[in-house]
Amino acid sequence: MKLNPNVAEALNKQINNELHASYTYLAMSAYFEAEDLPGFASWFRGHSAEEETHAMRIFDFIAKRGGRIHLDGIAKPQTDYDSAVDVLEQALAQEQTVTAQINALFELANDEKEYSTQNMLSWFLDEQIEEEDLFSSILDKAKAASGDRWNLLLLDQELAKRGSEQEG
Ligand code: FEO
Repeated sequence: MKLNPNVAEALNKQINNELHASYTYLAMSAYFEAEDLPGFASWFRGHSAEEETHAMRIFDFIAKRGGRIHLDGIAKPQTDYDSAVDVLEQALAQEQTVTAQINALFELANDEKEYSTQNMLSWFLDEQIEEEDLFSSILDKAKAASGDRWNLLLLDQELAKRGSEQEG
């Protein structure tokens, strides 16, 4: 059955949201490069790539269901941050926003009786639980380092290892 046009439009918007999240994490990676924290930089870069795969999951779904994909401009991300804690607070807030976007999509799919879209979105619902948990645990650690450079470098090393395990 061809994809419901209202749902197709909302899914197209979500492609843009995921790409914006990807671009924001890339900006965060760039911030950490400038701060000489390569572990944080590589971890955020990995997360940026992961957001792109989220966009492509939706892209592929629309295409398979015979919908039309419309790509829009990606808003400029914030490039300056006050601290590692500031970055992680904003990253967690972004994940919470994405969770709300996925919930709204799930509700729309329900209203439109788009059951296969709901099924596709259930992967995202699980993923958002993981992502919020992950960002919140790293935020806790960054807060515990409380601006101490040595503690931050230890956390940076931990993230460098976790990045190579393709976590998140
Ligand atoms: Fe695709 Fe991290 O939300």
